[in-house]
Amino acid sequence: MLMSDSRFRELAIGELERITECRPIRTLSILDKYISILETDTDILERYNRDIKDNIFSYALVSLIDHDFDADRISDLSEIVKGVLPKGKRFRIFVKNFVDIGMTQREAEISIGVKIESANNPVDLVNPEVAVVVILSDRAMIGVSYDENQNYAITSILHPKNTERRSQINRSEVKLAEAIAYFRIDTDRISRCIDVGAAPGGWSDIMLRYGKSVIAIDSAMLDYKALCRYGNVMVYVPSEEAGLEGLVSRIDSNIGVERIENLKVPDGVMLIHIKSNADEGIIRRILKETKADALLVDYNLTPPESTKLVLNLSELLSSNGILVFTIKINNRNVNYTVNMAIDAISSIYRDIRVRKLVHNRREVTLFGIKR
Ligand SMILES: C[S@@+](CC[C@H](N)C(=O)[O-])C[C@H]1O[C@@H](n2cnc3c(N)ncnc32)[C@H](O)[C@@H]1O
Repeated sequence: MLMSDSRFRELAIGELERITECRPIRTLSILDKYISILETDTDILERYNRDIKDNIFSYALVSLIDHDFDADRISDLSEIVKGVLPKGKRFRIFVKNFVDIGMTQREAEISIGVKIESANNPVDLVNPEVAVVVILSDRAMIGVSYDENQNYAITSILHPKNTERRSQINRSEVKLAEAIAYFRIDTDRISRCIDVGAAPGGWSDIMLRYGKSVIAIDSAMLDYKALCRYGNVMVYVPSEEAGLEGLVSRIDSNIGVERIENLKVPDGVMLIHIKSNADEGIIRRILKETKADALLVDYNLTPPESTKLVLNLSELLSSNGILVFTIKINNRNVNYTVNMAIDAISSIYRDIRVRKLVHNRREVTLFGIKR
């Protein structure tokens, strides 16, 4: 049995069916707007740990208990949690609440955990053998998930380890790294990419590290100091920002500054930053010079606005080029928002997939290949 956040149910089913080669996933019940129970065969659960373990649309839980829940009596849950906790295992409680329980999730975890902890069943926050998940909504769903030696993926429940490196520019960087791994993007197929909404330069940093040349578009400054370690940088500024020339070029001798009207894409420049919004004029100027084999879009615009931009920018992408596009989710209707974006771009892109990455916050990441 799989448990899914109802808001992501369709996305979860689509993604699970794709990974498991279309074995049907059935919706057993939709408890409420937050909790859905999906049913599948054991074969899929056996593969869960291997293939789907970090699919955060869903949790694979066993010994599931569906309990009438009164938000004022959270302490009653300890006995039930104790009932599903396998004896002798190091455990950690995860509370996910969608209703007001008068305390934080962390406080609820501690309150339940300390009541049931014993010498035989110690709490282990870092490396638990079993996770007990308590999902609180109009009802309480309580189930367990085991470590890697069992077939149920605890890793989908554990908060992602901090994979961030000290040298990185920002958290966004981890999102692109994760998208490359999850969508199995073959970076060998990319030689030049266009990174739109690029500032301060996390995604550019990832692509430069792969040895790709990058055209970054953003009206804000990039972290030139960090990015110039990969080679020459050219910054194209609008004429009203001509004063930046002195400032930027003092950062490092690898950095040149020019006006946007003189935009060129010369060989031997690893990073070109066009310090502007990605408007029609900029797209035309770039098109005169080059196309790219990857288009990376991480704008913080509304989904219809950013989808429209992706459509306009697609001209810059060669056929079979790769699109990675962050869709901000600013309302509860995830499926509607995502489907609207997919519908809008599907005549131009194929093999579209969407995932809520571990490091996505209120957003999902879309992958597609240009037809
Ligand atoms: C989430 S940040 C991007 C982070 C970036 N991917 C990174 O890894 O560092 C979104 C960026 O989109 C830019 N942005 C928003 N609207 C834009 C527009 N119309 N044209 C260009 N950039 C825009 C903002 O300036 C901001 O830097």
